Amino acid sequence: MANLQQIHGIAKPLYLGIFKEIMYLCSLRAYTRAHAPKMDKEQAKNRIDFLRASLRENSRLYYVENAPVISDYEFDMQMHELESLEAEYPQFDSEDSPTHKVGSDLEKGFVQRPHRYPMLSLANTYSIEEVEEFAARAEKSLEKGFTYSCELKFDGTAICLSYRNGMLVQALTRGDGVVGDDVTANARRISNIPLRLHGDYPAEFEIRGEVLMPYEAFDNLNREREEQEEAPFANPRNAASGSLKLIDPQEVSHRGLWCTLYHIPAQSLSFSSHDEALNAAASWGLPVSSDRRICHNISEIREYIDYWDVQRKFLPYATDGIVIKINEMEYQRALGYTSKSPRWAVAYKFKAEQACTPILSIDYQVGRTGAVTPVANLEPVQLSGTVVKRATLVNADQMEMLDIHEGDWVYVEKGGEIIPKITGVEESKRAPGAVKPSFPAVCPDCGTPLVRAEDEAKWFCPNKDGCPMQIKGELLHFMSRKAMNILAGEMTVEQLYNLGLARTPADLYDLSVNQLLCLEGWKERSAMRFRKSLEESRSVSFERVLFALGIRFVGETTAKELAAHFGNIDALEAADLQSLLEVPDIGEVIAESVYSYFRNPEHLAQIERLKAAGLQFSSSSTGAAVSDALAGMSIVVSGTFSVSRDEIKAMISANGGKNSGSVSAKTSFLLAGEKPGPEKLRKCESLGVRIIGEEEFRSMLPAASGTLAETAVKDTEPQQLTLF
Ligand code: IVH
Repeated sequence: MANLQQIHGIAKPLYLGIFKEIMYLCSLRAYTRAHAPKMDKEQAKNRIDFLRASLRENSRLYYVENAPVISDYEFDMQMHELESLEAEYPQFDSEDSPTHKVGSDLEKGFVQRPHRYPMLSLANTYSIEEVEEFAARAEKSLEKGFTYSCELKFDGTAICLSYRNGMLVQALTRGDGVVGDDVTANARRISNIPLRLHGDYPAEFEIRGEVLMPYEAFDNLNREREEQEEAPFANPRNAASGSLKLIDPQEVSHRGLWCTLYHIPAQSLSFSSHDEALNAAASWGLPVSSDRRICHNISEIREYIDYWDVQRKFLPYATDGIVIKINEMEYQRALGYTSKSPRWAVAYKFKAEQACTPILSIDYQVGRTGAVTPVANLEPVQLSGTVVKRATLVNADQMEMLDIHEGDWVYVEKGGEIIPKITGVEESKRAPGAVKPSFPAVCPDCGTPLVRAEDEAKWFCPNKDGCPMQIKGELLHFMSRKAMNILAGEMTVEQLYNLGLARTPADLYDLSVNQLLCLEGWKERSAMRFRKSLEESRSVSFERVLFALGIRFVGETTAKELAAHFGNIDALEAADLQSLLEVPDIGEVIAESVYSYFRNPEHLAQIERLKAAGLQFSSSSTGAAVSDALAGMSIVVSGTFSVSRDEIKAMISANGGKNSGSVSAKTSFLLAGEKPGPEKLRKCESLGVRIIGEEEFRSMLPAASGTLAETAVKDTEPQQLTLF
């Protein structure tokens, strides 16, 4: 049983009994819906509205932002639930429901062109029984003698190539299926897409396939992005799709993209089968996978699925299932299409790839809010192209539900996000006499007894002002890039704390250079750099200062909303619960948290000290001077600067300039920091575009931003040391 489950990529969760296993397999939500008391019409309408809104938003995050927040599995489960509700309540069905349309990847900045034939999606399933039903239906409705083409389902982004007289003339993304974004210039930079064909090709035809980013190129790209302080891509699919939509085709050449083609809309061509069409395409020099197989019955299909479920782990690129297509054109035509997908094909999707590995130990991490999170240290294991060493166990309830024992072999899985999670336990590998780890009763850091509020899933250390992990966590959060962007990492915070030099954010602004020179390994240069970034943090906007304060539940977005609504800290401090609830998207939990934050005298004293240090506590006086100094200019930013690139870009917009991703004849100048992209420099040279450095750029801005430039110059002078 365990083997069969592993072959199908489904881990056996530890908890016993058929009930919970079914729940796991079907996903909690789908199960709850299937077994919930029948909905009345109004409840069904509400659920349909909810699912449509969720699917639209998640489809945008997936196709446009390339940053999904739920796993493909959860997305597919919501889609299936919506399909069955619409079938059950046809009065609520609607043509523009996500069940009838393919997700759209259309973006501003690209010319859109119509597809000659609609570019559809595939019906998908996670159940082998449904594949059997597909085959049974085909066998019933078609005459004997048909075959199936079984293929890998490549996990990238779809592309449609057009060739005329053997030359690549156009490349479109799927878009909304009717029109696609024209990415021809970018497709020309993908090394295995031929610009010219050979052999006996038709005068004009289209061929569709997938653009992929192999794991190796993905790792290199993410390493570079982290070095440049850019958010890494969550997975190779998002990276492929983001890269295909780059504005600068030159940059596409460096992304290591790769293409595989799998479908010729052959209405106008005279092939008798899909397989024949793809073999012909390969003979013209087009990249077609040779991992296809012609199957004659369901048992051959199952063999193919079982084989690739294991072997795909050794492929250098991501696949997420198997596509089973009726091979003969005549039968494809007979079966036809729905509005969204062909009736002659089905995709069997693998459940997210899992790895099974033993737990070496469990750490209980105290976050800056005092929440205690259990994190398992694992025997390192390969998972979807990366090595996983740690995975979260979320909270005490989750550990209980999984029935974790010390040394257990656990299944690890990646969801839509980067951090892996533990989804099940392999009971058969449990050592006899293994004991359950006991969740600590006291804070692992300061020994204070942990508390847990009735409505909280997490245990908390209540020693907010005395627990070292919380104090250091608060400092790190305050200094982080998206908050005050003060250049220092965990080591510095550790040292500042250990030497008793900083316990609160306000302490940082009182540090003298002499004190900083007491830190191990610090020289004048590092002390100056640190002072300089403290100085620059004085012009960080109010909304970011608010975020930096670390008020519980006040993330970046909420901080923005509060800052926009109240305009300054005094108004926010004076707000009662009712006025906090009037802010868009702020509910009771956040309102209560903000309200009680300002009722704590220590917080008020801290704010007074930060005000005295010169931080921005009102929206109108943010450091980003609003001017039209850069009006009408199109500016390209490249390299690293004394502040984050986001901040530089914000300065450009705040001063009326336009940020542009690539150099063209219209570029006003390239703002080059340290290590600018060589391609961009070359392009500037060839087009005669001016290149300027950070200092010159700052001197173009009015006084408030200019202060930073003055500081930057002054701080390089050693005599400044004596001032602190
Ligand atoms: S055939 C008319 N074959 O999966 C149907 N699609 O989830 C044409 N995909 O939109 C598609 N591998 O982007 C086909 N071997 C394969 C595929 C494949 C990946 C993608 C394709 C499709 C999506 C549906």
